[in-house]
Amino acid sequence: MTVSPTRALPTWLLDLLACPLCGRPLTLNGDHLACGVGHTYPTWPHLDLLPPGKRPPNEGPGDTAEMARLRAEWERRLDGDAAASGERAALEHYLDTIAPRLRPGAVVLDLGCGTGDALRRLGARYTGPLTLIGLDISVPMLDAAYRILRREPRVAVLRASARRRLPLRGGTVDVVLRRLAPALLDEALRVLKPGGAYVTASFGPAHRRELYDALSALPRPKATREPALDTLLGQGFAAAEHHGWRGAEMVTPAEALDRLLMGPAAFHLDRARDLPRLRALAGESGGVLRLTTDIEVSVGIKAD
Ligand SMILES: C[S@@+](CC[C@H](N)C(=O)[O-])C[C@H]1O[C@@H](n2cnc3c(N)ncnc32)[C@H](O)[C@@H]1O
Repeated sequence: MTVSPTRALPTWLLDLLACPLCGRPLTLNGDHLACGVGHTYPTWPHLDLLPPGKRPPNEGPGDTAEMARLRAEWERRLDGDAAASGERAALEHYLDTIAPRLRPGAVVLDLGCGTGDALRRLGARYTGPLTLIGLDISVPMLDAAYRILRREPRVAVLRASARRRLPLRGGTVDVVLRRLAPALLDEALRVLKPGGAYVTASFGPAHRRELYDALSALPRPKATREPALDTLLGQGFAAAEHHGWRGAEMVTPAEALDRLLMGPAAFHLDRARDLPRLRALAGESGGVLRLTTDIEVSVGIKAD
C-alpha cells in the first residue's frame, strides 16, 4: 500500500509532541509513540493521541463522515462559485488576520482542523518554511485532511481532543488557530511561544439568521462563542483584538440545507421535513434565499 506523505509520521513532529496525559516527551517505539511511563499511542492508521478512558462530558465524537463529505464538497466550491462569495470573503478575512504572523519556520496549530482547508490555504499563501499541524477528533475528518493536504509537505495531521490537554510541548507554537471548533483557552496559551497568537473565529449571531427564523427545530447558536477580549486578557493574554465581518450570499434551498447539514445543526434537521419549508420561503423571492454572513474573529497575543 502507498502511504500518503501526510499520513506518515514526520520526524520533526516528535520534537513538538508531548503525552496528552502526563506531558512527557514522546518517542517512537516501533509503530507506537511512548512517553516512558506507560502511555502509548498508535501512529497507524492515524497518529492517534486521544487517550482511551474517561472523556470530558462535552467531548463528542467530532464530525460524522457525512458532515466531512458535505464540508469537503462545499470547500471545493468556495473558490469558483459566486453563490459562495459571502463565506469566501469571510474566510479570506480570517486568513488575512493570520497571514502577517506567518514568518519563516513558524509553527501553526489548527484545533478542530476539519478537512485541513484553512491549513491548505495558508500554505498556498506562504510558500516559505512553515510547520503546519492539523488536530481533529474525527476520523472521517482526518481522512478528508489527508486527501486535501496530500501535496503539502510541511503538514502533519493528528487525532486528539481540543477539549483536553493538547499533545504538544509548552511554548512550541507560533500561531494557534480555532475556527468553528472547540478549544481550551489555557491550553492554547500553554502551547504558544512568547509573543505567539491565538486566532479564533466563529459565526456571529446574525449568521444565516434567515434559516433559524424559518426552521423552528433548529436551536439558535449562543449569542457569541468568541472569547470576549476581557476573557482573553483575564486568562493571561497580553493583548487582544476583535474583528467582525458581515456579508450576504444567495443560495438555493438545497444548498442552504447542505450548509447546515455539514455542521452540528445536522443533529436537529431532517431533509425531508425541512427542504419543503425552505423552498416555500425561497418561492417568495424567485427560488433563492438571501443569507446573512456574520463572522467574528478574535486574536489574543501571549506576552513576550
Ligand atoms: C465545524 S468544523 C470546523 C472545521 C474547520 N476548523 C473549519 O473552519 O472549516 C468543527 C471541527 O471540529 C472537530 N471537533 C469537534 N470536537 C472536537 C474535539 N473535542 N477535539 C478536536 N476536534 C473536534 C470536528 O470533528 C470538526 O472537524
